[in-house]
Amino acid sequence: MQFSDNRDLTHRPDATGFRKAAARFTTGVTVVGAINEDGRPIGMTANSFVTVSLTPPIVLISLKHGRTLSAVEASGRYCVSVLGAASLDASWHFSGKQVAGNPPALHNESDFAVLPGALAVFACDVLRSVEVADHRLLIGQVRWCRHEEGEPLAFFGSEFCSGPGTPIRNLAY
Ligand SMILES: Cc1cc2nc3c(=O)[nH]c(=O)nc-3n(C[C@H](O)[C@H](O)[C@H](O)COP(=O)(O)O)c2cc1C
Repeated sequence: MQFSDNRDLTHRPDATGFRKAAARFTTGVTVVGAINEDGRPIGMTANSFVTVSLTPPIVLISLKHGRTLSAVEASGRYCVSVLGAASLDASWHFSGKQVAGNPPALHNESDFAVLPGALAVFACDVLRSVEVADHRLLIGQVRWCRHEEGEPLAFFGSEFCSGPGTPIRNLAY
């Protein structure tokens, strides 16, 4: 496809270049959980979490096809647990990697799959879901949320990082 100003929309970055550029965007780390059809809480690590609207409270996650997405679609609900630095093991485990000792587990809290010790929890009803490539964008209306104080877990340059960084300006509101 060609625009009249000669921008070539057929140009695409290669997968490695795209991954490296995307990795320059610092994110938090969450575990998105759902209750599966056997009534068990399951989940996966996700950093695609975005707040869409404050009033009403609406969020978005992007999940690839798999068992967590299937459970979200079947139940019509999901729960986002925002990880603190102390939950590094959970981010590892819920991205399908082995951890030493007992693996962290999600708790069923009134039909939402919550990670104990999370810095924040957003319990959501799926408002709309949109298929994009091999992912689904799940727009969720927040039914309830809560938060705690603690050191955040961040993801930058394909590495898990701890700490809030160095504050350089305060947005007071
Ligand atoms: C830091 C980090 C962030 C991730 N974010 C996402 C995400 O936003 N969406 C996604 O589909 N997978 C994401 N993944 C990959 C999934 O956690 C991983 O594929 C998981 O095993 C899928 O679980 P499932 O088998 O329940 O589908 C992420 C992995 C890591 C380590």
